[in-house]
Amino acid sequence: EEIVMEQATELAAQPVVEVDGSSQNRLLIKNGKVVNADGIEDADVFIENGVITQLGRNLIIPGGTRTIDARGRYVMPGGIDTHTHMELELMGATAVDDFYQGTKAAIAGGTTMIMDFVLPRKGESLVEAFGNWRRKADPKVCCDYALHVGVTWWSDQVKQEMTELAKNHGVNSFKMFMAYKDLYMIRDPDLYKIFEHCKELGAIAQVHAENGDIIAENTKKLLEAGITGPEGHEMSRPEDVEAEATHRACVIANQVSCPLYVVHIMSKMAADVIALKRSQGAVVYGEPIAASLGSDGTNYHHTCWRHAASHVLSPPLRPDPETPDYLVQMLADDGLQVTGSDNCTFNFDQKKLGRNDFSKIPNGVNGVEDRMSVIWEKGVQSGKMDPSRFVAVTSTNAAKIFNVYPQKGCVAVGSDADLVIWNPIKSRVISAQTHHQAVDFNIFEGMECHGVPEYVIVNGRVCVDEEELKAVHGFGKFVPTPAFPPYVYDQVDAREKEKRPQGVTRGPNDEDYSPEHMNG
Ligand code: URP
Ligand code: ZN
Ligand code: ZN
Repeated sequence: EEIVMEQATELAAQPVVEVDGSSQNRLLIKNGKVVNADGIEDADVFIENGVITQLGRNLIIPGGTRTIDARGRYVMPGGIDTHTHMELELMGATAVDDFYQGTKAAIAGGTTMIMDFVLPRKGESLVEAFGNWRRKADPKVCCDYALHVGVTWWSDQVKQEMTELAKNHGVNSFKMFMAYKDLYMIRDPDLYKIFEHCKELGAIAQVHAENGDIIAENTKKLLEAGITGPEGHEMSRPEDVEAEATHRACVIANQVSCPLYVVHIMSKMAADVIALKRSQGAVVYGEPIAASLGSDGTNYHHTCWRHAASHVLSPPLRPDPETPDYLVQMLADDGLQVTGSDNCTFNFDQKKLGRNDFSKIPNGVNGVEDRMSVIWEKGVQSGKMDPSRFVAVTSTNAAKIFNVYPQKGCVAVGSDADLVIWNPIKSRVISAQTHHQAVDFNIFEGMECHGVPEYVIVNGRVCVDEEELKAVHGFGKFVPTPAFPPYVYDQVDAREKEKRPQGVTRGPNDEDYSPEHMNG
């Protein structure tokens, strides 16, 4: 009820933008430091009808243009959160952040585009599931969004539907689960075929990399031994269970030259696998998430059950408290490339489904609102990365990999005016009391973060205005992600040529011994 009222107030306060060249469609951002993935420049940005039309100094500005003074601030591409699960039904509960509240919270934190997952049940039509997800999201999203589609079963129909989605529905990424046995899990022979098909379609194969069989065995044993609390969740799926599947996915993808994207990297060992495979030339990308960069698995040992259960997600946070800094450093050094949040939020009453059995705690945590702040604090404020690398890992690399660059992911003439004006001097303390998400807990509670999004501009509309949130229900739109992203597939093609198998050329009498073998 509260949400409906909020919506109504916001809608009343903010008439839909009229595309008639009136002043509210024109915005000048002056005196800021414009940050792109390849550098920083002092420049003004002029926006008209949702698009950046001028960039530089001494711009020609029509009358009636609103001006924002960004002196001392960074002007950056809005964040792209590559991994969310708004209103997902999982393990008997429905995630409480829906497409309205989730995208509103995203905007509050400086994110202007999300990528959510369509997850069909085994046997369900992928195209139908995709249509259903669009019908859920389209009327609610406050910012633009794209969709990945889960391939949770395999058949000729699924193969044909993947083709249909790639060719006619703007989907260029498919997620396969190596865990969630009996629900979503795909086994190696099918994984091989799906990767092969992704490659044919010019798509990105994504994997949830954990060994589902091992997890099932470990879970049984832990529960039998009386370990029923949230700490059992991490114990049942330790680092090497994630690293093994990560490695296996890399090996299988490499056989068919399929570009691979490993979602939610949670451990040092899995990150090491990605970095190693990349150093060997594999086309593979790693996506740590706000949770793995800003929190750790010591929380599972908290004596408060609610606190511990609220940190349960898969793969889990790791007990080694050095993990977040290690992953941030990996991001800085390009061992890892992209960041999401895996925002999939469940309230205490939903987490309680696993009160007596950790394997029944709905999996998921928050992050869509705080991802940018956490990465700025751990990455830029700590000195591990500069603002350009921050932009690369929070926005540009995602736009390139999923083929929406330069429409998204950069501040350039012709790009969508999805921007954040970031004050690096100010700081804020994260709390569930003040966050904009629906969920009743925040895994980053109490964390002080420098860098405050003072203004967030979504398709030219000021949706955070002097820190005041003015997101608009349904203002966002679906962004198709076209197949064959050149950023990915140019490398795939080059590598394929390079490693084309070569047979041995032999003469007509090749069964005869050569001279050195005559006496042998
Ligand atoms: O625990 C998680 N990660 N929940 C969302 C589903 C998934 O595997 O991404
Ligand atoms: Zn997953
Ligand atoms: Zn996820």
